[in-house]
Amino acid sequence: MIKPLNIGMIGYGFMGRAHSNAYATVNHFFDLPMRPVLKAACARDAAKAKAFADNWGYESVETDWRKLVERKDIDAIDICTPNNLHKEIALACAANKKMILCEKPLAMNGIEGKAMIDAVEKAGVANMVWYNYRRVPAVTLAKQFIDEGKLGRIFHYRAKFLQDWTINPELPQGGQGLWRLDVDAAGSGVSGDLLAHCIDTAVWLNGDMASVSAMTETFVKERKHNLTGKVEKVGIDDACTFFGRFDNGSLANFESTRYARGHKALYTFEINGEHASIFWDLHDLHRLQYFDHRDESKTRGWRSIHVTDGDHPYMGNWWVPGLQIGYESSFVHQVADFIKGVAGGNLSMPTFREAQRTQLILDAVLESAKSQKWVDVAKA
Ligand SMILES: NC(=O)c1ccc[n+]([C@@H]2O[C@H](COP(=O)([O-])OP(=O)(O)OC[C@H]3O[C@@H](n4cnc5c(N)ncnc54)[C@H](O)[C@@H]3O)[C@@H](O)[C@H]2O)c1
Repeated sequence: MIKPLNIGMIGYGFMGRAHSNAYATVNHFFDLPMRPVLKAACARDAAKAKAFADNWGYESVETDWRKLVERKDIDAIDICTPNNLHKEIALACAANKKMILCEKPLAMNGIEGKAMIDAVEKAGVANMVWYNYRRVPAVTLAKQFIDEGKLGRIFHYRAKFLQDWTINPELPQGGQGLWRLDVDAAGSGVSGDLLAHCIDTAVWLNGDMASVSAMTETFVKERKHNLTGKVEKVGIDDACTFFGRFDNGSLANFESTRYARGHKALYTFEINGEHASIFWDLHDLHRLQYFDHRDESKTRGWRSIHVTDGDHPYMGNWWVPGLQIGYESSFVHQVADFIKGVAGGNLSMPTFREAQRTQLILDAVLESAKSQKWVDVAKA
């Protein structure tokens, strides 16, 4: 008997769609003991929420997330709202004993993150943060290679996340679609938005970070605010570059910006170890580039592994070898793992507690940029 997992979705934007697609797809490809049931979609605008609910097959609509969280027929709440609402909604979920699937970053900062961890752990509810890049098969394969010791001692971890959509100084800040430019809604700029992904992947692949030295810049200092109609100071970081030291002694070099003309979502990372190196690029997400110094010299070189074989992570559940899957599948994998975790009484990674590592590194990055000094990363 497949049990229902009754989902309440908050937000119908980019992630509301990505997650709804995952709930609708997951049982077609993964043999699971539970099936997501799309019980209710919630957003403030009733007509837009209804259109979203009808399109994705949600049974009902709410316009107040508090009502959704209190509903007895909902098992799990999916938080797909801007960052400033994550904590408040998560605390209400914990009080109502709901499982929580929360979008990244966990919170606006480490203080909020701590309150969220305390709430979910006290309530004993399943909790997970949608750092979906861990479940891109090529990234999961990188994790397997590192854990198997293929790279040996790691020296360097280099990551970038580059975009170019905020270069226009006439672009307003705040409100629908532009909350990422409003510090009160986002908490920070590219650091919490883009670097959060790079940091989560890094901590997962290479362990915790000890200290950081960062630089941020806000290239456009004032923008019209969509909610007030006035020109207001921009409080987010438009670009952030930082160096760091991992606990394992390797060096970190990270960069993110929304001012890299020509780049839309260029997330790349490269890891250099004693024996081997790995390179991954979101634009080519089904490939893992791998160089192994131990190969015979005549044939030694970078290999481009097409991560589509049945023995590659998650791929046995999809098509036939050679046929790739896309960005949206990482969310399908995350739902599959969440369900397995719930059914088996285990928490699926990253939990709030694990995602807090990224939050604390982000706090240290922003503090370092402000003080222009190296900052030690707080331990949870
Ligand atoms: N995992 C990823 O790769 C990834 C990608 C994009 C965004 N995100 C994260 O997902 C979250 C949402 O981002 P998005 O791109 O989907 O944003 P979006 O602007 O596309 O959607 C946000 C949604 O929240 C709703 N909302 C805002 N205030 C609300 C309220 N008070 N009550 C109910 N609904 C409310 C909006 O109506 C909208 O539907 C953010 O935390 C973001 O950082 C993660």
